[in-house]
Amino acid sequence: MKFGNLKDVLAFAIRREEEAARTYRKLTTMAKEESAKKLLSDLEADEKNHKKILQGLTKARIEAAAFKTVKDLMISDYLVEEPLAPDMNFQDLLIFAAKKEKKAVDLYLDLAKKSTIKEHRTLFEFLAKQEKVHKLRLELEYEKHVLWED
Ligand SMILES: [Fe+2]
Ligand SMILES: [Fe+2]
Repeated sequence: MKFGNLKDVLAFAIRREEEAARTYRKLTTMAKEESAKKLLSDLEADEKNHKKILQGLTKARIEAAAFKTVKDLMISDYLVEEPLAPDMNFQDLLIFAAKKEKKAVDLYLDLAKKSTIKEHRTLFEFLAKQEKVHKLRLELEYEKHVLWED
């Protein structure tokens, strides 16, 4: 997958955020404990908010020129290929989601690096930090479950 301009990249990032929100909604229904449900629906809300932030950027009609020319963003590096398997246990689902968050962190850090406008860099860095927090929260939840099972 190759992108020539920021608009395409943003469209991709928006789709990723939509997908992340959908995944968390699904995981929320699969979680059994209230605390896990709460965590996952918080994450869903965050991803929806990220989408809005990115849409705000699109509306601002960013010039393609404001983005260092990118021939290949290596976007496939940020995709998580494995589908959610129906027989995955809750811990596996948490790991799956954490891996997706790692990819999201990498995507936003890369976008930050490739942005020429300071404001955009700040925004992408902010999003990267949020995804990093998501990853951590999922990993903490994972630890909690593993500890409970032992
Ligand atoms: Fe996000
Ligand atoms: Fe996230």
